[in-house]
Formats: sequence, C-alpha cells, structure tokens
Amino acid sequence: MYQSWTYALNEMDVTSGLIALLVILLLLFAFVHYMTSSHGTFQKLGIDIPPKSPVLGHFGHALKYGVFDVQTVFYKKFKDKKVYGWYDTRTPVLVVRDLDMIKDILVKHFNSFVDRRVVMEHDVPFRDNLLTLRGDRWKQVRASVSPTFSSGRIKKMSPHIERNAKILLENLKEKQESGQEVELKEICEFFTLDTIASIAFGIDLNTLKNPENKFAQEIKKITNPNPLLLAIVFLFPFLGPWFTRIGLPFFPKKSMNYLASAVDSVMAERKREGTEGTVNDFLDLVTSEAKEQGVKERLSLSEIHAQSIIFIFGGLETVSTVMSFTLFLLAVHPECLERAQKEVDEKIGKDFPCSKNVQNLHYLDMCINEAIRMVPPAFFLDRQCVESIDINGVHIPKGMVVLLPVYAIHNDPTFWPEPEKFDPERFTPENKETRHPYAFFPFGHGPRNCIGMRLALVELKIAIAAVLQRYTLVPCSKTVYPFHLSKIRARTTDGAWVKINPRK
Ligand code: HEM
Repeated sequence: MYQSWTYALNEMDVTSGLIALLVILLLLFAFVHYMTSSHGTFQKLGIDIPPKSPVLGHFGHALKYGVFDVQTVFYKKFKDKKVYGWYDTRTPVLVVRDLDMIKDILVKHFNSFVDRRVVMEHDVPFRDNLLTLRGDRWKQVRASVSPTFSSGRIKKMSPHIERNAKILLENLKEKQESGQEVELKEICEFFTLDTIASIAFGIDLNTLKNPENKFAQEIKKITNPNPLLLAIVFLFPFLGPWFTRIGLPFFPKKSMNYLASAVDSVMAERKREGTEGTVNDFLDLVTSEAKEQGVKERLSLSEIHAQSIIFIFGGLETVSTVMSFTLFLLAVHPECLERAQKEVDEKIGKDFPCSKNVQNLHYLDMCINEAIRMVPPAFFLDRQCVESIDINGVHIPKGMVVLLPVYAIHNDPTFWPEPEKFDPERFTPENKETRHPYAFFPFGHGPRNCIGMRLALVELKIAIAAVLQRYTLVPCSKTVYPFHLSKIRARTTDGAWVKINPRK
C-alpha cells in the first residue's frame, strides 16, 4: 500500500515536472520567436547587416562599443554602401550613410518621414511634447510654437541670457579667486538650467549659487531616467505602453507634475498681476490672446505643459554639452583661444555680450561649430517611415525606423581630414563651400529640425564671449586630453577640467 502511494506520488512529481518543463520550453520558444520574427527583414530587402547574435540582434554590439563607437564601427564596415541595417534587439533599423539620401529623407520626401521613432509612450503632462508628437498634431503644435523662436523673440529673450551669464561670471570669479580647478560640464549645466528656466517660464533659479533648489532637484530626477526600465523597453518594445498604463513611467511622475504645477502657478500669477504679454518668455507667447503674434492655433493646457518641459530637456543637456566642449577645446588650444579672445575684444570691446553684438563673432561661431562637429549632443537622428517609398533604388517599407548616424558622419575622414583634430578653420566660408551641405547636421535639417537652434547659438555665444572677455582658460592637473567619450552620453569619462586665470 505504502509503496503504491510513493509510486503514485513519484509519478505525479514526474508528470508535474514534465508539464513545468513543457511550459518553460513553450515560453522560451515564444520568446525566441517574438525576438527573431523580424530578423529576416533586411535579407528580404536585399540590405546588408553586420553579423548579429541570434536572439538579441545587435543589442550586444551597442553594449560592447557604446553609442558612439558602435556607429563608427559599422559605418566604416559598410563604407561602399548607401545604407545598411541593424536590429535594435528585434526592431529593424535602416541606417542611411549616403548624404543625398539623408537630404531626401529630411527634406524632399519629408511627408513619408514626418514622425520620429517613439520608444516609450508618455503620460500627461509630458504626453503632447513636440519631440514625440506624430503626424498632423505635430504639424499644428510646431506651427503654434515656431513664432516663439523668431529673431524678434530671441532678441527679447536676450536679457534672460545676459542676466544668467553675469551670475556665471560671479561664480567663476569665486572659483578663480580661491584657486579652484573647474569642471566645465557641471558649471555649464547650472548656467543652462537657470537660463532655460528663465526663458521658458520666467523663473529665477540661481542654481549656480544654490544647487539644491527644488526645481533643479526635480529636473535632475527627470534627466536621469530609470536605466532598468530603459533596457527592458529596448528588449521588449511592446511593454512600453503597458508600463505607462500601470504607472511605471520613464520619468518620475512626481517630478513631471511638479514642473506642470510650476507652469500653472507662473500663469496664474501673471493673470493676477496683469503682467501677461510683458515678460517675453515662452509662456508669454503661448498664453497670449493676441493673434497678431503669429499663434495660428491656441495650445491646450496639456500641450503647454509638455512644450515647457521639452524646452528644458531640449535646451539643457545639448547647450551645456556644446558650451563645455567649446570652452574645454579652446583651453587646450591656446592659439585658438587667443584668436577668439581677440575677436571678442575687437567686436564687442567692454560692452556686455548680447544677441545683437554676438552676431559679428564669426571666429567664435567657427569654434562652436567645430566643437559640435566633434561631439554632437544629438549623436544620431531618427525618423519612422509613414508611407512606403523608394529612394535612390532603396525600398523603405512603411513602419521602418530610419537612423541617420550624425556622429559617424561628423567624424568621417572623407569629409573631415584628421577628424579627431580640433580645427575651426574647417568652417571658413570657403571650406564650407567645398563640402556636401549634409556632412554637418548637428541640429537636424528640414521641417522637423531643432526648433531651438537659433536660440541655442545666441545663448552659447553670449555665455562663451562673456567668459572669454574676462578669463583665460588653461589646462590644469586634472585635464585629460585627448578626451575619452562616455559609452552612453555626450560627455567625457574624466570630466572637462580647466583652471581659470583673469585676463590682464
Ligand atoms: C546646441 C544645442 C542644441 C542641439 C545640438 C540640438 C539638437 C537637436 C536635434 C538634432 C534635434 C532633432 C532634429 C531632427 O530630427 O531633424 C532637435 C530637436 C528639437 N530641439 Fe534641439 N538642440 C539644441 C538646443 C535646443 C534648445 C535650446 C531647445 C529649446 C529651447 C531645443 C528644442 C528642441 C525641440 C522642441 C525639438 C523637437 C522639434 C520637433 O520635433 O519639431 N533644442 N534638437
């Protein structure tokens, strides 16, 4: 009797064990099928790809090389091709390296590539932001927001930039007087955060003096999204919308809501005090009733929140990266620094830099361009094909993600001899004439290019010229040059350290 029970139990153990094994095998099979079902796409299209891993596509290559080198490795490998493919785990991505094709995608056939790839859907208050909006709604919001960035509006925003550049100088003075070495990226981040908060919402932060302020803290939380979530969404893109639905967003909801309520209270205060239309910032324009200011269609409150937040994103990391690299590269190239200082002295003299007088700083413009060429903060662009099209003999099916490898093109020796060398002369009008116009596109091109480009350039020139008027930047004990780029973002692994000397 006892023996037959044991036998029966053992038999059950074996049966449940077999069922468990079968379930695991089925799940594994479903997983492998899901991950690989699109892996034949490029073969069908007759497009080459680098060797990939059977399940994760080229994800492993991105981890191994980092976001910069992975571009250049494949870009060089397919140097005779117009396009090649890779798989972001299971998503086929068509990489376009031919500059004429890039032009067609961004401009001539824009209507087939109006959208960007959206990896993660966002919830309000970030949902309706310009960067991720699609199709007609993107067109409407872009048309409503564009007047904010006209030359006239930028001129009116100039005092916001100048005020914050003066705070930057005070801070540098303290560091110089106490003999401290300066990490440029950090200090440029503080400056750009203060400036964009002032330009977008008219808020005075003074993060340079008070780095712990609540606004800066919340921004910090948002600009460092959950890396685990990011990795999972890349592996399993279909989970993205579900994460949003179950309240696990990319960006902390609390911080997003904090920013949205900051916008609400600024708008309410202006209404109360009757100062709407006098502050000359982004909120002023979009909340204004005045049609003659160029607002074609009024934005909803949710769209105003989203645009205000995206301006902080768009204008923070990008501008601080370019500003810190330009100052750093000038510090390690004293002959270029001297020439830039001489130009500032001659063209601006003792006046404080403003949107008007920085327009004449052509050499500084060349230095900034050369820094963005070497390290473009937006190191690739992408578009999603919304209707199938053939371009230059390449068939691009609807839904295909198209990637434009900005960093690899900016460092291609065919267009830029000795690309690792900092050489502002590449941007003289004569040298520019000899190059394909799409060999340099740090702000994108076409109708969906960077809306903040002109503002960014004015901000950069005002801040850098103000520093060069008063200080000479020199290498210090912590300076590492040539620099090494981080594997995941446009910054150096060793910081951008310099010492600051007052000019005689
Ligand atoms: C040096 C600084 C900057 C760089 C290098 C930069 C770069 C870029 C790039 C490459 C794009 C994508 C363009 C494309 O897909 O063709 C972009 C889009 C965008 N940028 Fe910038 N950007 C900078 C500064 C700014 C600033 C200061 C703002 C706002 C105040 C801003 C707001 C935006 C927005 C809203 C978009 C999305 C435009 C759309 O989809 O219609 N950017 N930026």
